[in-house]
Amino acid sequence: MAKITASVYTSHVPAIGAAMDLGKTQEPYWQKVFAGYEYSRQWMKENTPDVVFLVYNDHATAFSLEMIPTFAIGTAAEFKVADEGWGPRPVADVEGHPELASHIAQSVIQQDFDLTIVNKMDVDHGLTVPLSLMCGDAKKWPFKVIPLAVNVVQYPVPSGMRCFMLGQAIRKAVESFDANLNVQIWGTGGMSHQLQGPRAGLINKEWDNRFLDRLISNPKDLACVPHIEYVREAGSEGIELVMWLIARGAMADVADGPKPTVKHRFYHVPASNTAVGHLILENN
Ligand code: DHB
Ligand code: FE
Repeated sequence: MAKITASVYTSHVPAIGAAMDLGKTQEPYWQKVFAGYEYSRQWMKENTPDVVFLVYNDHATAFSLEMIPTFAIGTAAEFKVADEGWGPRPVADVEGHPELASHIAQSVIQQDFDLTIVNKMDVDHGLTVPLSLMCGDAKKWPFKVIPLAVNVVQYPVPSGMRCFMLGQAIRKAVESFDANLNVQIWGTGGMSHQLQGPRAGLINKEWDNRFLDRLISNPKDLACVPHIEYVREAGSEGIELVMWLIARGAMADVADGPKPTVKHRFYHVPASNTAVGHLILENN
């Protein structure tokens, strides 16, 4: 049986990727950000999974106003690193897991969640920056990745509860795959940030930290927060945080299993225009 052993949550600020690619990680500004991931990179080496189910959002890179799937699962064998305007980031392309991805698509769709199936897709900073943060500079990523792209860019976006319940369905899907695989699920994006309009630069430390507390201890309750509260309190791009509820919904305690262990928690302001939040939860 395949098993979800842990979940990881992290922001995906593109300037973090640029800092790594341009050799700026030792600059004082960036040192403070990367210090929060030192533990995580060691943990990653000691807890390397076979597959990461990586929940992220595309930023009008693979999709555009021409086509906007709410939930899109990548079933391909390979995903190329996208060119977001400065050429593709100089990091490894991403290897998929078509067999597990197809199984999850089958199971989750039969559990009444309509996923779009994507056989060809380039992946942008939403997916590659979390990989870089957790794995450092890697010639080859040390695991396969199943991307799940969630629309949090163009309204209407999915609710926190829909995301949470999708996570529960993904857990069932993974556990019904007939191979011994160690699977992690990552929820990425956030935390508070707004890149546009009169409130550009908005950060809300109190709300973010309360979000982390509630994500750990009472995710079902957190899932009831309406999207308008994310936008009001965490800024227009703070809505990316609903994706964290997919990863949290896939953890064992949601199905009345034992509580997960908090292995690591980090919060830092700012990285570019964003509050960086990061958690590692292990299933028991
Ligand atoms: C920034 C943050 C994001 O989440 C993003 O997608 C783009 C830019 C930023 O803070 O610069
Ligand atoms: Fe983003």
